[in-house]
Amino acid sequence: MSLDSSPIDMTDTYSALGVDDVLRRELRDECRLSAIEFLRSTASTQIVARELAAPDGTDRMLVVADYQTSGRGQLGRQWSSAAGSSVMFSLVVHPSSPEAMALIPIRAGIAAAEALDAVIGIEGRILLKWPNDLVVDGAKLGGILCEGQIRDGDLRAIVGVGINVRPFTLLADVAASPAFLDEIAGRPIERLEVLRAVVKGMSSALDVSPPMLSDEELARHSSRDWLAGRDIVEPALGRVKGINGHGHLIVRAHNGDIEEVVSGSVRTVEVG
Ligand code: BTN
Repeated sequence: MSLDSSPIDMTDTYSALGVDDVLRRELRDECRLSAIEFLRSTASTQIVARELAAPDGTDRMLVVADYQTSGRGQLGRQWSSAAGSSVMFSLVVHPSSPEAMALIPIRAGIAAAEALDAVIGIEGRILLKWPNDLVVDGAKLGGILCEGQIRDGDLRAIVGVGINVRPFTLLADVAASPAFLDEIAGRPIERLEVLRAVVKGMSSALDVSPPMLSDEELARHSSRDWLAGRDIVEPALGRVKGINGHGHLIVRAHNGDIEEVVSGSVRTVEVG
């Protein structure tokens, strides 16, 4: 599906997804997807995925966009992009329990960070800022927005992912210092390669969905935890210890009390 008639740049393999059935089939098989939609421009892939997802609860649909006119971020924020610059998609998955649904941002984040490291060839470069930011040197490279739905008893999550690849100017009202994958890698990165690696990683990470994070998942998160050891002022006051098996943030208050934070947006003392 392509919503406008402007010519497609066939050297950009990401955009070629809109016209190349073979490419789409390859990606579908590789990532075990039921369907792929590519949109040159749309309001938000989250909206399209919600509309197109099959009612029977068995699909794993992927909606990819080159540009979004009303990209949605966490906590009602906007997600800014420019055509040709980002990887943006929504993946529909079916967690086996509400607990597993709540862990999707953490599991998707670990999978995305590992996949992106592999694409740029630098192990441990992409870190995770709880609950669902991908960061490099404290700057935001990408984010994950997980929206849940229950339809006829089926739990469904629409996992929206945005990753900045080529530098572009963020909308003035998007308050975050951005990072771009090209600059981190020191070379141009193919957006299709990023899409492929991240969707594949997430697809298998979200395949089985136990209600708690395993020790192995916790260790993988901990090795990339940007917040661990940092002092924060929101949503709790104290020093971050890490996350627990429920995906909650553990904060040690300055009086020694331990607080378990379930959700919220974190503000650190250092970078505000
Ligand atoms: C965040 O605020 O960090 C989450 C950003 C999520 C952005 C992605 S881009 C693809 C999908 N469609 C949207 O409208 N938002 C998500």
